[in-house]
Amino acid sequence: MAEPTRNVSLQWRILPPILSLLLYLPIVSGSFFKPFNVSYDHRALIVAGKRRMLVSAGVHYPRATPEMWPDLIAKSKEGGADVVQTYVFWVATSLLRVRFYNFEGRYDLVKFVKIVGSSGLYLHLRIGPYVCAEWNFGGFPVWLRDVPGIEFRTDNEPFKKEMQKFVTKIVDLMREAKLFCWQGGPVIMLQIENEYGDVEKSYGQKGKDYVKWAASMALGLDAGVPWAMCKQTDAPENIIDACNGYYCDGFKPNSKTKPVLWTEDWDGWYTKWGGSLPHRPAEDLAFAVARFYQRGGSFQNYYMYFGGTNFGRTSGGPFYITSYDYDAPLDEYGLRSEPKWGHLKDLHAAIKLCEPALVAADAPQYKKLGSNQEAHIYHGDGEAGGKVCAAFLANIDEHKSAYVKFNGQSYTLPPWSVSILPDCRHVAYNTAKVGAQTSVKTVEPAMTPLGNNASYISKSWMALKEPIGIWGENNFTTQGLLEHLNVTKDQSDYLWHRTRISVSEDDISFWKKNGANPTLSVDSMRDVLRVFVNKQLSGSIVGHWVKAVQPVLFVQGNNDLLLLTQTVGLQNYGAFLEKDGAGFRGKAKLTGFKNGDVDLSKSSWTYQVGLKGEAEKVYTVEHSEKAEWSTLETEASPSIFMWYKTYFNTPDGTDPVVLDLGSMGKGQAWVNGHHIGRYWSIIAQKDGCDKTCDYRGAYHSDKCTTNCGKPTQTRYHVPRSWLKPDSNLLVLFEETGGNPFKISVKTVTAGILCGQVSESHYPPLRKWSTPGFMNGTMSINSVAPEMHLRCEEGHVISSIEFASYGTPRGSCEKFSTGKCHASKSLSIVSEACQGLNSCFIEVSNTAFQSDPCRGTLKTLAVMARCSPSEDTGYLSFSTA
Ligand code: GAL
Repeated sequence: MAEPTRNVSLQWRILPPILSLLLYLPIVSGSFFKPFNVSYDHRALIVAGKRRMLVSAGVHYPRATPEMWPDLIAKSKEGGADVVQTYVFWVATSLLRVRFYNFEGRYDLVKFVKIVGSSGLYLHLRIGPYVCAEWNFGGFPVWLRDVPGIEFRTDNEPFKKEMQKFVTKIVDLMREAKLFCWQGGPVIMLQIENEYGDVEKSYGQKGKDYVKWAASMALGLDAGVPWAMCKQTDAPENIIDACNGYYCDGFKPNSKTKPVLWTEDWDGWYTKWGGSLPHRPAEDLAFAVARFYQRGGSFQNYYMYFGGTNFGRTSGGPFYITSYDYDAPLDEYGLRSEPKWGHLKDLHAAIKLCEPALVAADAPQYKKLGSNQEAHIYHGDGEAGGKVCAAFLANIDEHKSAYVKFNGQSYTLPPWSVSILPDCRHVAYNTAKVGAQTSVKTVEPAMTPLGNNASYISKSWMALKEPIGIWGENNFTTQGLLEHLNVTKDQSDYLWHRTRISVSEDDISFWKKNGANPTLSVDSMRDVLRVFVNKQLSGSIVGHWVKAVQPVLFVQGNNDLLLLTQTVGLQNYGAFLEKDGAGFRGKAKLTGFKNGDVDLSKSSWTYQVGLKGEAEKVYTVEHSEKAEWSTLETEASPSIFMWYKTYFNTPDGTDPVVLDLGSMGKGQAWVNGHHIGRYWSIIAQKDGCDKTCDYRGAYHSDKCTTNCGKPTQTRYHVPRSWLKPDSNLLVLFEETGGNPFKISVKTVTAGILCGQVSESHYPPLRKWSTPGFMNGTMSINSVAPEMHLRCEEGHVISSIEFASYGTPRGSCEKFSTGKCHASKSLSIVSEACQGLNSCFIEVSNTAFQSDPCRGTLKTLAVMARCSPSEDTGYLSFSTA
């Protein structure tokens, strides 16, 4: 029967705010667990005396706001995570070598860890301090490169001293706040360094010595929990070497005493400006995870479970975009990405059902089932007495389904899939059979106060011209071209260089005669170079350590040659980061002069760091008033190097808010003084996106990408906690020219839901806890599969756009009825779902009151629309 789930749904509407409240309560009290110890053996981490199969959710705290943390952690927990994993970000805001730590706001590590603990989850803290993570400079503070004699990540005293200070500081911070598990806190494991194995060879013997030093330094801190090193095949005894990658099944740590940990399961990928968007299909991700536990793995972390946003200038390089969505199960805004989130939730529930057997066996028993098919069986004595058994059946054939026999039963295995049998007999889950809903995110323009959709954020804009070139007194002049970071200390993306070029009459007639212009030529540069002559833009060059060649036009007499070097995220990966630098490398010259080339490396240059508007903080609420803005006329033509400001109202409701900056060029944006990041409407490469995305076969970051030929990013997240109801100050610095009148503010939600579940799907996983299910006294065949639909919080299913129980065709948003169709499909689904936040429908003849085609396998396909619920305050809703 289609069972209405009004009560269930009501709970969903009320739970999130209550959950958030509950989550906060124990933060005040401090202790989250009865103190417990964590150790390990070859099979697993041993938590409070028990081997555990753990699922971990990667969430980097500064990529969200503290206000978002409780919801992200609650959704990780609901999705089946036992652990949250984060790096520690060494954010030192001081220019000098003064150790000034910033643990405020988004960097409030202790608060984040406490929220994790209060939700009943564990924490894996990766201290690094090198973290990579597509974070500016790999997480190192930029002042570190100025420490005399320093060489990063090698046997170098100055580096080791700073590293030890930082790591000690973090371990002490955890200890003082009583956050280690043996103190009743959530921290069960730490990490030192990060993928050092990738670069170790570059450092020779010193690299090997550094690994040993880092390990013994870490262990010497007596943190009382295990330490891991990822991708470190020579990790010393007492440090667990862990795997990172798209697949880690079959990974073997470097000692038989260590368990198999997967610290980074790349469930998507990051994006570059000008790149397409990554997509890792849920079926393949589930396959990779199931294979991992099948072949002896015991701890797996999704990198990322929630990626979030690179606010401010925190994104790394070369050229990483502001969004760090990562195609993770929770999207950039913290909304569920479906079907990924739901399909993994089901997977985790299936693995949890196997946990008693997985931990009971020291190793799986192996059975070959076919040329590309295999079974791993775990059995032993259950904790509560009695025998336990769980099996994983894999078909690693990339193309064909397989029919296998296992323990006398027949099983059909779709290509590239794993079936999970928590009782060694019945399939609870198959990685290629997605029962979870698909959601389509809809982006709605915010309403104006008059109630109509606004395609613009504001009709009134102010503008402020940023001077081209040296703008203030804090400039200096010296001979030669200086390395960019040595001058800026990364306090700004921008560095102006000015030199004077005098041009004779002879030069001019020489150029006229040859029909050629002089050319600026720089051996190597990154990331952006803008060349101006006498304040006129000659051209811009974009690239990562590329040669720059730019024709320039001079007039007779003195000319100002202005070069603006820009960073778009400092390098975060590779050896010798401290030497990488920015701006120029090698020689710079002007060619094409009558008397030969002008060597600019020897010229006298005047330098100025940053923009005038940055120095005057015109983007802050306090200082924006002081600048001399002028009204921007609607017909003003786009101009370069402009500051723009306006005020806007916050869209109603609770949906995430984004700014659509697709009409702008390149620059940075601030809302109420909060730096929401760099923006750039650069277009993604035209080719390389697959027309269809086939989950089968090994994933790599170029497979299944989308968005080719479109701007890489146009929407920029503005966390709601940075907004007040009205008059929010938006300030943009625009480098290349754009139209601010076309900027709009929008909200994002899962506006469309689709489900497609057939009679051959497996019964809901929660049914496995029904007494009798595991021991076979209750028949699996008697339980029908279900379709679950659920809108985001604060939304209800407002209409069912399509429903067919029978043989529907097509996919989400393109469904059509097939030959076989139960006539009451639409009314039955509408009855069960309409007006509710969530609902479920059994996929059975009973539920649809008829068998529309006897003997044919039937499928239920539904497309539903979600709309904001009328009652906006969930708490006022009553279950009575
Ligand atoms: C890994 C690294 C992570 C992250 C990831 C790619 O190699 O450890 O920090 O950079 O690659 O997203």
